[in-house]
Amino acid sequence: MDARKKENLGYKRAFLDLGKQPLANGFLKTEEEFGKEFFFNLGISFAEEVGLVTLSEYVDPPKMFHENYAYVASQSQTMKAHFKKLAEQLKSSFSLNSTSRVLEIGSNDGIFIGLFRDSVSTAVEPCGNFARLTEELGIKTFSEFWSKELSEKLVEERGRQDIIFAANCMCHIPSIVEAFEAVSAAISDEGVFIFEDPTLLHVLQRGSYDQFYDEHAHIFSLTALKQLLTIAGLKVFHVENLDVHGGSMRLYASKASSSHKINPSVDDQLLLEKFYGLGHFSTYEFFAEKVHASKRLLVKLISSVRDRGIPVVAYGATSKSTTVFNFCEIGSGEVECIFDTTPGKQGTFSPGVHIPVKEYTQEWFRHFPKTPFAFLGAWNFVNEIKSKEAAFLASEGAFFTHVPYVSIL
Ligand code: TYD
Repeated sequence: MDARKKENLGYKRAFLDLGKQPLANGFLKTEEEFGKEFFFNLGISFAEEVGLVTLSEYVDPPKMFHENYAYVASQSQTMKAHFKKLAEQLKSSFSLNSTSRVLEIGSNDGIFIGLFRDSVSTAVEPCGNFARLTEELGIKTFSEFWSKELSEKLVEERGRQDIIFAANCMCHIPSIVEAFEAVSAAISDEGVFIFEDPTLLHVLQRGSYDQFYDEHAHIFSLTALKQLLTIAGLKVFHVENLDVHGGSMRLYASKASSSHKINPSVDDQLLLEKFYGLGHFSTYEFFAEKVHASKRLLVKLISSVRDRGIPVVAYGATSKSTTVFNFCEIGSGEVECIFDTTPGKQGTFSPGVHIPVKEYTQEWFRHFPKTPFAFLGAWNFVNEIKSKEAAFLASEGAFFTHVPYVSIL
């Protein structure tokens, strides 16, 4: 079947070209791997029929999500606290107990589903390394990609689910209509599907073009999701805006026939998106112009800092920074190294531009080789990082970012 037909998204009109990009989490262990790296063209399109902002071409999921997947959700205290709060909220709002069936799609290291060991919990995690970690928490885990076939198997083996949760996962799935149909088939008549992903409105408002990378097949708006979920027989009944991951949206959906009443937050968000012009192609063309201006300014800022003899490093080897560095052609000649707390990323080279990734220690970061200016790759954790690095900021150190515009913090 034609790939576009399978996606059910209709005609896609391109508005931004972020150039040749590697896999955002494709950290390289040795220099021998440099010549063998996979690259693809990162183009962003607007699928007008369904109002969805989506990649012009998708990368095959098994290329990205596998045994060596690098992103560890529990690395961040912010995310641990975020999921703990949500788990408590869901347990009380939906009166969950030991017989409730809770499913997470994309469990990573079990940061969320691990909090539901007192229910009948199940996880789906295609990355083998993380599926094992989730299983070790005592959660029945299917190490497969979410699909209609898996949904059928899950219903047979584990029954229809009261809660289906997915964080930063649905936006990874190219065949999104099929993925929502699979949710619809696995959920109980009054069950609730809660999912959260980076939101388009925040990307446009904050100029955070680095939310576009191979794994983010789509950046969702409610306008698009409402249409896509309707096709799958689901309805959205509540929406929350969240600060995590640089601006996310959490949706609560259920079967269209369920008794869940639609909350005013749904219309409020749709109206906001309409006011911002999310339905018009010209909004995206304007955004693309801002992205090109941001690139020019960032390159200029780095070169003027280096001209003053100040070393430039990066803080957080994020997927987002892969997009920025490759799009802006910033390599090890401009940024000397990236400090990161994730053991699996340390000692590697960043995807595409091959900046060395070093183990983060506060001492080393602060005095490398003298106090540096640091590009905030993990700008979405700015508050957590600023308070951790108060001494660095009180000395001669400084962070700089491109979000919402190129500036020194
Ligand atoms: P995140 O922003 O969640 O990433 P992505 O763009 O890949 O979705 O990832 C945060 C990365 O930053 C992760 O590799 C850990 C690192 N990090 C630090 O090194 N120090 C910190 O204080 C924080 C909060 C994150």
